[in-house]
Amino acid sequence: MAEHACILAVDQGTTSSRAIVFDVDGHIVASAQQEFRQHYPHSGWVEHDPEDLWRSTVDVCRKALADASDAGARVLSLGITNQRETTVVWDRRTGEPVHNAIVWQDRRTAETCSALRDGGHEPTVRARTGLLLDPYFSASKVAWILDHVEGARERADAGELAFGTVDSWLIWRFTGGRRHATDATNACRTLLFDIHRQDWDDDLLALFEVPAGLLPEVLDSAADFGETDPDVLGVSLPIQGVAGDQHAAVVGQSCFAPGMIKSTYGTGCFALMNTGERAVLSDNRLLTTLAYRLHGRPTYALEGSIFVAGAAVQWLRDGLGVIASAAESEILARRAREDRLYLVPAFTGLGAPWWDPDARGALFGLTRDTGVAELVRAALDSVCLQTGDLVAAMAADAGGDLETLRVDGGMVANDWLLQRLADLTGIAVERPQVIETTALGAAYLAGLQHGLWPSLDALGSHWKLDQRFRPALADTDRSDIIAGWHDAVRRTLSGAG
Ligand code: G3P
Repeated sequence: MAEHACILAVDQGTTSSRAIVFDVDGHIVASAQQEFRQHYPHSGWVEHDPEDLWRSTVDVCRKALADASDAGARVLSLGITNQRETTVVWDRRTGEPVHNAIVWQDRRTAETCSALRDGGHEPTVRARTGLLLDPYFSASKVAWILDHVEGARERADAGELAFGTVDSWLIWRFTGGRRHATDATNACRTLLFDIHRQDWDDDLLALFEVPAGLLPEVLDSAADFGETDPDVLGVSLPIQGVAGDQHAAVVGQSCFAPGMIKSTYGTGCFALMNTGERAVLSDNRLLTTLAYRLHGRPTYALEGSIFVAGAAVQWLRDGLGVIASAAESEILARRAREDRLYLVPAFTGLGAPWWDPDARGALFGLTRDTGVAELVRAALDSVCLQTGDLVAAMAADAGGDLETLRVDGGMVANDWLLQRLADLTGIAVERPQVIETTALGAAYLAGLQHGLWPSLDALGSHWKLDQRFRPALADTDRSDIIAGWHDAVRRTLSGAG
């Protein structure tokens, strides 16, 4: 069998770790996936055991590499993409974490953030990082660990500890502790990184009380992040592409031109619009972030972040037990009565454009004949309506109507959801043939650095449409549904009487 050149991509997500081997045409050669345990020690707190993140990543890589080798693949390079903001602090000497990872969804530092907001710090933070003072981001989580683990602050001051988002943690472990690095897209989610100067910011480090000695080196998204220790995967692979999952999806969706938008449906939903060389500050509570950084040059994006998308379906399956599988949600939604049942899935607060960490979920419009099908439909509707809020905010910032939304992630296999998404956002929704675009983006970045592809332009032609969904709902019906949704959200906000 002739061997063919391939890239291994790791996608370390919020609920599972995945490894996918792609060939030079962007086709999947082998893949493996493993879920791991979620820890909810208190209301609004979410943790992962960093050892689970590491072990599940290694397991899926080994499995995917073995299957790819059977299929004649010659894997040349490794790309890593990851759940963003999730915070790990570990001992540089032993490589042991000092605490569980505090997950991006965790709200324990809401009070710290609101005190900083009350202290008038948000304008500076926003101007430098493009972000808002919200517990979603890493900085307040790092400080929490240093202040709640006995002796951690002293050890951090003495340079004994390291902080990293999940990419950094995996790079450290993959390289046997030889590299402590991250890429610019992950760094820009910490609240400690100046997105204009492209460097850590001393004032922000002082504000959040995070010692500089904890921080990783920041590289481009396509760069040399070190070699994997041969004992880990049985081979030594260069790590050459790293990006936070939403940024990797921008690359995987080939959204390389300003104005192009992708929306990824994983645990949450994150829509990013490429704004090119300009870091646009939103007037509509969106974030300014990096799309990717190549050859030292940042490409910026506007981002809308929603904390619950696939997590709503997971709640129906694992929390309530009303569906046996995610696929069943499509069958039930098709069967549901048309009614005005609204689920506001503020399980861990609300993200863009509301930014209310203290809001909690609610269901409005229950009637005597509301059944499971209607509840499932309301959960899927909430995903579409939240996306609609992001699309409206982006259109307002862009100063004109948007045309197309490229979608990806596990949920977009659901045709009913995508038609509803087109209906409720009022714009065309495009599903590509490969919906694992997050991992594909990481593979593209690693392949670019490895010289497998000459440039981003060469990758654009890989993108192939699977299906386009066009809005088919009358404008008046759409406006009515959206008005009901906004009424439901307002009643859910923490300040609502
Ligand atoms: O910012 C959080 C995000 O990176 C998590 O992504 O795919 O696990 O919903 P996902």
